[in-house]
Amino acid sequence: MNIKKLRNDFPLLSEENQKNRKSKKNMPIYFDNACMSLKPIQVVEAMNQYYTEFPGCAGRSAHSISTKVNDEVYNARNTIKKFINAKRTEEIIFTRNTTEAINLVANSINFKKGDVVIQTDKEHNSNLVPWLIKQKNIGIKREFINSNSDNTFNLDEFEEKLAKLNNKVKLVAMGHTSNLDGTTIPADKIIKIAHKQGALVLLDAAQSAPHHELNVKRLDADFVAFSGHKMLGPSGIGALYGKKEQLEKLNTFIVGGDTVSETTQNSFKLEGLPNKFEAGLQDYAGIIGFGAACKYLNKVGIKNIAKQEFKLNSLMTEELLEFSKLNLIGPKDPKLRGGIFNFMVDEIDPHQIAIMLDQSKNIMIRSGAHCNHSWFNAHKLKGSARASTYFYNTEEEVETFVETLKKIVF
Ligand SMILES: Cc1ncc(COP(=O)(O)O)c(C=O)c1O
Repeated sequence: MNIKKLRNDFPLLSEENQKNRKSKKNMPIYFDNACMSLKPIQVVEAMNQYYTEFPGCAGRSAHSISTKVNDEVYNARNTIKKFINAKRTEEIIFTRNTTEAINLVANSINFKKGDVVIQTDKEHNSNLVPWLIKQKNIGIKREFINSNSDNTFNLDEFEEKLAKLNNKVKLVAMGHTSNLDGTTIPADKIIKIAHKQGALVLLDAAQSAPHHELNVKRLDADFVAFSGHKMLGPSGIGALYGKKEQLEKLNTFIVGGDTVSETTQNSFKLEGLPNKFEAGLQDYAGIIGFGAACKYLNKVGIKNIAKQEFKLNSLMTEELLEFSKLNLIGPKDPKLRGGIFNFMVDEIDPHQIAIMLDQSKNIMIRSGAHCNHSWFNAHKLKGSARASTYFYNTEEEVETFVETLKKIVF
């Protein structure tokens, strides 16, 4: 992987930007990738091409522009299918983002009072609130697995809990990789155990799809939700993967044009997959951009991505863990935390740290509760400062981040 060359594909990081900068500010050091990744020019160009060359709608008109949109949407769906190794193209449903994909599942399964949904104790609000609402409105039971003391997943507790609940568990809905600490749950083992007890599994893959191999066929996952904007794609587009037989059993969620093949004044006939879940005109540029993003990731290689993140996180960890005022969230071993380094510093507000990093060296990190308020509240903490890297970040950037942080807080 030639990072220097790859960086030139990202306008904000490119040598061109460095040469043409009017601002006296440093070149940006973008360490907020767990929130949103940067976009390569190939993605922007693919979207521009839609708007300039064939800006029509898919699936409705028979003219050539519309046919071209149909083809490009199919190609994007197929690229994404291959990216996660799904069996069939129609198992990819386009949504606005991970949040909408999770809401689709939550609102389309026939839950009854007493059905159990099992989660981790550190779900992103997007994989928590839909289930809290089901608990309130329908009376499902929400159970969670307490993480080990280093925030890794407690598989024994999960296995025991599932056996105790004796076939009452309808769904295991868990974050695959945590945006809080970068740890990844042992999804293959979890899915095997869940299936043995007759439960379905939904993985929130917002943080795993961009960073390490996601093979839905090998995992045998029932549903997987992910977002384009965290994996080089545009914002406003995401996907739900579902096994064909599971998607076919779901009720519909949002309905209208394109979700039906026929209507009368008193009846309607639903379309098959994937149309049944994709209501109204879609974000065609977004879908095409998402496909281009997956193509780009394929070119870089998902294994190379994980390797580079590990290298950067190892360096950060080695340099920063020696400071006793710094409290790391999650395990010390960087191998277990992907690209995420989330920390608190005694007596310093994380927002203050983020602002100072930005103002002094143009270093961008995220501060706050990272949509994990429930975890911070349970631990009586207010928030943290999170640096999250991606494959286009460099060791020099990590060195600058470490040096600046040392000057600011230690
Ligand atoms: C683990 C996790 N789940 C869900 C989401 C929600 O993603 P989106 O806002 O794209 O719907 C995020 C976003 O930060 C996330 O990190």
